[in-house]
Amino acid sequence: MNERLEKAFNDQINAEFYSEYFYLSMLAYFDRMNLQGFKNWMNVQVQEEHAHAIGMFNYVQERGAKVELQSIEKPKTDWSSPREVFEDVLKHEKLVTSKINALLDVAEEEKDRAAVSFLDWYLKEQVEEEANVGKVLKTLNLICDDKHCLYMLDKELAGRTFNPPVIG
Ligand code: FEO
Repeated sequence: MNERLEKAFNDQINAEFYSEYFYLSMLAYFDRMNLQGFKNWMNVQVQEEHAHAIGMFNYVQERGAKVELQSIEKPKTDWSSPREVFEDVLKHEKLVTSKINALLDVAEEEKDRAAVSFLDWYLKEQVEEEANVGKVLKTLNLICDDKHCLYMLDKELAGRTFNPPVIG
């Protein structure tokens, strides 16, 4: 891959590691709130982001390009409610989707068809990610306005499990 695409991939690796960090910060918040189901949901999210970052890391290496890790920005550490957390998650996933689209644009402009095909998986994954987050946010927005509902939702979110993705 050429230098322009290599840089764009490295930026996205950073964005995926930042996502892991951001969700880890949310996990700590849910732990402080003693919402163990929400914490579990976020833990799955953390693992998924790690898999996304490593999947891209391995791909860059496999292509014989250079992985250049960058600093990871300090994430937000406090939220006023679980709803605010999930609003941030959805906002963040939409940002990631736009970043993946921009990376795909670079791969297409550089006529790197192998990279375009690799990134297709990430684009599909974003559709799923936004849908998953949207589902929880919808419940929080439309149904959950008392502690009992939050407790029930917490029980439901405790059931989410991590299935290591097969990337590419
Ligand atoms: Fe790796 Fe949630 O995007």
